[in-house]
This record gives sequence, C-alpha cells and structure tokens, in this order.
Amino acid sequence: MITTDIDKAKQALLLNDIIAMPTETVYGLAGNAYNESAIKKIFALKGRPFYNPLIVHIKSSLFLNNVAREIPELAIKLAEHYWPGPLTLVLKKQPHIPDIVTSGKDTVAVRVPNHALALELLNQLDFPLAAPSANPFGSISPTSAEHVSNYFKDELDLILEGGECERGVESTIIGFENNKPILYRHGSISIEEIEKLIGKINIAVKNDSNPISPGMLSRHYAPSTITYLTNNIPELLKSFQGRKIGLLLFNKEITSKAIQVQEVLSKTGDLNDAAKNLYEALHRLDKNNLDIIIAERFPDEGLGKTINDRLQRAAKGCKGITH
Ligand code: TXA
Ligand code: MG
Repeated sequence: MITTDIDKAKQALLLNDIIAMPTETVYGLAGNAYNESAIKKIFALKGRPFYNPLIVHIKSSLFLNNVAREIPELAIKLAEHYWPGPLTLVLKKQPHIPDIVTSGKDTVAVRVPNHALALELLNQLDFPLAAPSANPFGSISPTSAEHVSNYFKDELDLILEGGECERGVESTIIGFENNKPILYRHGSISIEEIEKLIGKINIAVKNDSNPISPGMLSRHYAPSTITYLTNNIPELLKSFQGRKIGLLLFNKEITSKAIQVQEVLSKTGDLNDAAKNLYEALHRLDKNNLDIIIAERFPDEGLGKTINDRLQRAAKGCKGITH
C-alpha cells in the first residue's frame, strides 16, 4: 500500500516490520535499528550481502551520542552544518548497535534525513531507523514511491508517499581515518563544497574484494539494460547501428535517426538538476525494451563527479567502452 499515513508506518515499525520511507536523497527501506529481526528483513528483501552495512537515520544531531562515540571535532562541524541533510558520517559505534547493522564493523554510518515525513516519523519513535536505499541490491535507487512499488509491490506492506526526492542521488559519505576525513562515496553534496568547509579530504580507493563502503562496489546502481558510458557518442552510435538505442545526455539532444529515446537531464546545464533527474531518467530508459543505453560522460566537477561515479558503476560489467 502507498500511503501518507504516518501512524500506520509507526505501527508497522513498532511490530518490527519494515516499510519504505522517503528521504530527500532516495527512498529507503526502514526498520528499527536496534532490532535484529527487523534488520534481517531488510537484508532479505533487498537481497543484500551481510558484509554491506546500513545507514542509521536519527531524528537530530542531539541524538548522535546514542549511536556513535569518540566523535571527531570535524564530524561535529559537518553535522552542525549539513544536518538535517544528505551527508552521512561514519563514526565509531556505540556497543548497543547490533553487529548486523554495521556488518560487524566498529563503525556506524549515521545521518539526519531532510524530509518532513521522515523527520515526523523519527520524532514519533524512540529508536533510530536503519535504512538502505529501497531497491534490490545492485539496481537503480528509487526516487519516487512508484519506483519502490515497481520493485517490491508484493513484498512490502507499506510505502510512505513523500513525493519525488528533492536531491535524487544518495548522501555523500565521509569517514575518519587517523582523525582525518576521508570520502567513501560521492553523493548529493559535492566534494568541492565540503572542502570549502573543512579543507582538503582524501578519497578512498576502490577495492571490490573488501569494500570499505560497498557503495564503492564497482558494479552497482545498474539498470537491467546494457549501459555504456562514453565521451564520444557518435562513435558508439556507429558501432551499434541497427540496435534499439536510448541516450542519456547532459544538456542537449542529438539529431540522429538511430536513436529510439533520449533523456536530457538538464536543458539549462545545471549539474544539481541533472543529479536530481538521473535515476528517474534511468528508470524510464530501462522500461523501453532497448538493446543498449548510451550515457554521455558529464563534466568532472561538482555533482558531475557523483553522476559519473554512478554511470561508471552502471556501465561496469558491460564489456565495451567506458572511456
Ligand atoms: O542517501 C542515502 O544515503 C540513502 C537514504 C535512504 O538515506 N541510503 C543509502 O543507503 O544510500 P545504502 O545502504 O544504499 O548505502 C549505504 C552505504 C553503503 O555503500 C555502505 O557500504 C555504506 O553506506 N556504509 C554503511 N555503514 C558503513 C560503515 N560503517 N563504514 C563504511 N561504509 C558504510
Ligand atoms: Mg543503495
């Protein structure tokens, strides 16, 4: 059921059931972060491997000490500046956070979502909500209640309807190693913006066998249609002549008879708008029974980095050109 009834959502959560809830980034599959049986349901529904830990959502930074300890000064500065908002901090965890939430790590990922319904719900609960994005493991994140329903119609009793997500891509994740900040996942706050506040930060290196943050797994956020990422659309169009092709473009359409559908993410060339529209456009393209999706590489600045990161992962595993 898709509903705006917060009370029903609250009742389900109190029974250790799971629900889908809107956030400003993407929809999440939420359950009581302190209850193992609720968390197991999340992993089962997503088909998510247990080595991939969840983000814990709290109602305000005043509750950060309930889930994390030994919090670095810079983390407090970031939380004060960005919460509620699309920044996730990876911090040392409090012992009562179940291992299943953190995949046995000594750290917990935590954020305050900036969405009225999510905050209203959290405010009525005396526990935080663990919530990964509400999609099957590896597929495109949902930015509307309809996307969630398309994935989990029969398995999920309650989807809280909170409209289209304002940001459209996941939160930026920052952790601390030797007290220095480190970026684990590009997200809806650009690295440039964060560096203005706290100075230079390192970027974690990808490692598939032991991902520090499995948002770093190389194939992830993928449509079911084979996807290519390129700087040279005409060249790819030539090599795929005769196929059903969909294009994902930054700011302008391409004139060519070879193309079935095209999605332009921001006609005004605004990278924030483009990020907001990215997943919706991928969901739409994926429904067209195409042979391939060809995505244009975005400018490597601001949220263009986040968009390229997601497109690169969508394209990974599809042999071919990803330059
Ligand atoms: O915007 C978002 O962050 C959305 C909304 C629902 O809040 N959530 C989301 O969750 O994207 P998920 O599960 O799809 O991605 C969480 C990421 C994963 O890449 C996971 O590996 C990383 O957070 N993560 C969680 N706990 C971690 C930890 N202790 N250390 C490092 N990375 C962690
Ligand atoms: Mg996800």
